[in-house]
Amino acid sequence: MALVTFSSPDYKDKTVYAVAGSHTETLLKLARENKIPIKYDCQDGECGTCLVKVSSVDKKIQRMGGPLTEKEKEVLRVSGKLSKEEMEKMIVDDLPSPWRLACQMIVRDEDILVEY
Ligand code: FES
Repeated sequence: MALVTFSSPDYKDKTVYAVAGSHTETLLKLARENKIPIKYDCQDGECGTCLVKVSSVDKKIQRMGGPLTEKEKEVLRVSGKLSKEEMEKMIVDDLPSPWRLACQMIVRDEDILVEY
């Protein structure tokens, strides 16, 4: 069971449970189910509308949140959120990306803060 806290300057923070069965669901699906107003468009990792910043609630535990998809890498590179060098370093050092596309990221069993 993971706790996902959605935070936006325009709305009240909301923490929701991601139940075990939902671990194959995307962050965007979880947000929509809980009426979190994350903006989205294509839902296919192409437009970058659903860009969010993700961090671990427990700073001692490194975020497991699966690797970036190829579509995420492309959108993050084109939008300037991650440089080619930063991306390579993340891959080499196996570090999680702070920027994710909500429609591509699968929620794992970890407590995270999602800023949108
Ligand atoms: S909705 Fe288009 S990239 Fe996620």
